[in-house]
Amino acid sequence: MARYRIAWMPGDGIGVDVLDATRLVLDRLDLDAEYIPADIGWKFWCQEGDPLPQRTLDIMKETDCAMFGAITSKGKDVADKELAPELQGKGLSYRSPIVRMRQLLDLYICLRPCKAYPGNPLNYREGIDLVVFRENTEGMYIGVEYERVPEEFYAAPGMAKVPRDAAISLRAITPGGSERIVRAAFEYARTHGRKKVTAVHKANVLRQTDGVFMAAARKVAAEYPDIPFDDANIDAMGMWLLKNPLNYDVIVTTNLFGDIISDLCAQMVGGLGFGCSGNIGKTYAVFEPTHGSAPKYAGQYKVNPIASILAARMMLEWLGEKDLAAQVEGAVATVLAEGQVRTYDMGGSASTLDMARAIAERL
Ligand code: IPM
Ligand code: MG
Repeated sequence: MARYRIAWMPGDGIGVDVLDATRLVLDRLDLDAEYIPADIGWKFWCQEGDPLPQRTLDIMKETDCAMFGAITSKGKDVADKELAPELQGKGLSYRSPIVRMRQLLDLYICLRPCKAYPGNPLNYREGIDLVVFRENTEGMYIGVEYERVPEEFYAAPGMAKVPRDAAISLRAITPGGSERIVRAAFEYARTHGRKKVTAVHKANVLRQTDGVFMAAARKVAAEYPDIPFDDANIDAMGMWLLKNPLNYDVIVTTNLFGDIISDLCAQMVGGLGFGCSGNIGKTYAVFEPTHGSAPKYAGQYKVNPIASILAARMMLEWLGEKDLAAQVEGAVATVLAEGQVRTYDMGGSASTLDMARAIAERL
């Protein structure tokens, strides 16, 4: 049996293109790995009523980690219509498979490094090197939503001012969930020689939930007196990041704020083609490019595979293959610095696989 068993989940659209490209790179490395294909995506929603079938969860149970491509998801009306006729009217409802994986497998860290590689024409500013730690299991993503406020809620103080026709989404923040994500950010800062950790919140308005988050952040920060710590409101952070991106280093925040701020950070280092993500728990992790399935480019092998290749780099590091991770990082950096091979987003004409081959050749 191979040393590592990796669930291989291309999913929909360009997920297939970029994972093919990523395999070109991984196959060049001295990595004793077996890749086990696993079903995920829109097709399985339509055919089976579940975009993340149980057999895929079973594969995840017997593998070390997973590489995931991308998924198409559509609004409620379309989702219901595209369901196989025999499954319609059974009350099935679509839920994002990536959000479900994060919750089912307790992948509480969403790690998103955003680095401006020299030579990338899409860099917003040279020298940006940010890492976002997004809490990945709670906050606004717990999936507890109501089309109408349940009548019994009105018995609680303050509820009288909530209109009767309001839809509501609940935001849940726990001390434990907050402490573990902040601790992960500080541990990373320490092991990677980072200069500062910044906690991002909206504690001036979301007094209870972000009160809990910030209390946990301050408590954990006190355990790391050697690492500078500060905090910022989410709105101000958006401005500061655009104004002075070099002032920040490791950013830690709750789920939805992390979703938003990590897209902002990714855009500053080249956008969709560069944003990579690790969904990491205690014993399992799922690595993915942050972009979606881009149906209009599906199967054209046109999009930039670097986000996915950098996600594979994160996977190698997580597996403990630090040398191989450094090799991939170095090869990506070299190709970008040379500036000869560029996909369309960078103004070039290289295909997805051209880019992957160029990176593989420089390993
Ligand atoms: C991300 C994505 C997901 C999220 C979507 C696809 C549910 O935007 O990974 O950032 O909101 O977490
Ligand atoms: Mg997002």
